[in-house]
Amino acid sequence: MENGNQLSEQQIQNIRESVDIVDIISGYIPLVSKGKSFFGVCPFHDDHSPSMSVSREKQIYRCFSCGAGGNVFNFVMNYENINFIEAVKILANKAGIPLQIASYQAPKSKKFEAYYEVYDLAHKFYQNNMSTSMAKEAKEYLNKRGIETNIIKEFEIGLSLKNTEMLTKLLIKKGYDTNLLLKTGLVNQNEYGLHDIYYNRILFPLWDLEGRVVGFSGRIYQNSDTSKYVNTKETDVFKKGELLYNYHRAKNEARRIGQVIVMEGFMDVIRAYTVGIEHVVATMGTAVTKQQALLLKRMAKEIILCFDGDQAGEKATISCANELLEIGVTPKVVRLEDNLDPDEYILKYGKEQFLRKLENPMQLMDFKLKYLKQKKDFNNSQDIATYVNQVLNELKKVDDPVLRQLTIQKLSVETNLEESFLKEQLQEIKPKKQIESKPKNIKQNKYQQAEQNLIYYMLESTEVIQLYKKHVTYMPTKEYRMLAMQIACFYKDYKFINVADFITYIQNDEVLTKTLNDILALDLKENYTIDEIMDYIKNIHEYGVKFQCERLQEMMQMEIDPMKKAEIGQKIVDLRKTEMIR
Ligand code: CTP
Ligand code: MN
Repeated sequence: MENGNQLSEQQIQNIRESVDIVDIISGYIPLVSKGKSFFGVCPFHDDHSPSMSVSREKQIYRCFSCGAGGNVFNFVMNYENINFIEAVKILANKAGIPLQIASYQAPKSKKFEAYYEVYDLAHKFYQNNMSTSMAKEAKEYLNKRGIETNIIKEFEIGLSLKNTEMLTKLLIKKGYDTNLLLKTGLVNQNEYGLHDIYYNRILFPLWDLEGRVVGFSGRIYQNSDTSKYVNTKETDVFKKGELLYNYHRAKNEARRIGQVIVMEGFMDVIRAYTVGIEHVVATMGTAVTKQQALLLKRMAKEIILCFDGDQAGEKATISCANELLEIGVTPKVVRLEDNLDPDEYILKYGKEQFLRKLENPMQLMDFKLKYLKQKKDFNNSQDIATYVNQVLNELKKVDDPVLRQLTIQKLSVETNLEESFLKEQLQEIKPKKQIESKPKNIKQNKYQQAEQNLIYYMLESTEVIQLYKKHVTYMPTKEYRMLAMQIACFYKDYKFINVADFITYIQNDEVLTKTLNDILALDLKENYTIDEIMDYIKNIHEYGVKFQCERLQEMMQMEIDPMKKAEIGQKIVDLRKTEMIR
């Protein structure tokens, strides 16, 4: 496991133990001590009362209202919108533990290494073309658009030439397999043989989240009737919907100022950069996916959508905003006049005016109201009715009661409909949607309760883990079974148990993490008795037998062979006997 710059679990545990979660969290939010725990206002949802508790003893935190919870790493990750390793680094720093890792290499298969090599070579090749005499026209084009040499360097803009096989030849000379080259989307094959996909285009490298080149977007720069941009096809390493243009360059600045700006095109991003706006990414002209929305959510608290000023941009704004609302984020909106995109707007009106626009974004609801009002005739009852229903439909997505009330008031003034009537209508269409993160009521039958309780105490004491190992052969509920097994594995690996470290141990498994969170929320009394534990075990066993008997009975009914039928019958009898012995 130990390997040079890779963090070991041991190191991670050391770092966690060297800091106190109460100290760390109180560096972010005020905590007051009450009984054995500390309490504060949860920073992860809109709250005004102290619903987050922090346990010094267990070194975990949890919010009773929104269900957020975890150990000190989780808190810092969520608060700062950073990934695990970045949180580890911050805490190591606070604890004064030197960390040798320069950057974190996510454990990734070497499977696609060859792709990265090919893109890297192509990238260097194209960039080099840009500094030859053959790049004269391309450079003129870029300069005319206000993209000077420093920006060409900064965004690593390259050029493919008129010759259609230079890159292909180079790659073949380097020994890359034809099949691989075809798969990278840089090389194509026709009746005359292999040739470059890109020729005579300005090439914008596309980076993955870690900043590796995984494709290109090639723009025409001379009069041509071919399409304006040609993108590298989707490959094993390039999925357009999973990345955002400029993400790796923008993320630190976005985090620093707590804001990220989203645009449609990469020319817009590049233009914004030329006037000093660095915390900006682009969706590259496609509808925003859930993954992209989640990425944005992690980048910064405030998200500003600044899409093209045309109707398509307006539509894209609505759909992106809805994708963000789904994951609990309400973006703000900037709309540009005269159908301009941010690139054109900045060129036409200048940096100052653009910055002013960014400083005064619209609230999403105001934008939506304006959008829905378009082309509606308020002298026409049908239009008004449509408008009212559309607004009410939008209001369903709003959790903030103040914003709901304000909007209802506005709507009432606009339409002359009574507020009370509008509220009634809203009640009717408001789905009984639970807030996603609210802890589910997990009170189940006595068997499942026994499983949960047993796991709860396994996390407190190795004695209980040993009892589990000795007596429990089968946990009937899958999630609990997996969780108990992981606890046993942790114990086997480290010879102790500790919730805070265990949280990190299973952090890559969403289902287990969720199950663990639910179980921790049980907040059972501190001490257990062996009798209680044995009682849980007995119940679990009984449940298991019942479960297996039911399955066998089903099998028996399906079976036609009388011998086999009898065999299954015997199994059931045997199983029942074990239940009686217990
Ligand atoms: N796009 C694309 N293929 C096209 C057109 C657009 O992939 N044929 C993507 C590109 O990623 C582009 C984004 O959609 O950055 C926005 O498109 P558009 O607004 O048409 O491009 P601009 O950013 O305005 O580019 P330019 O200013 O160079 O015309
Ligand atoms: Mn443009």
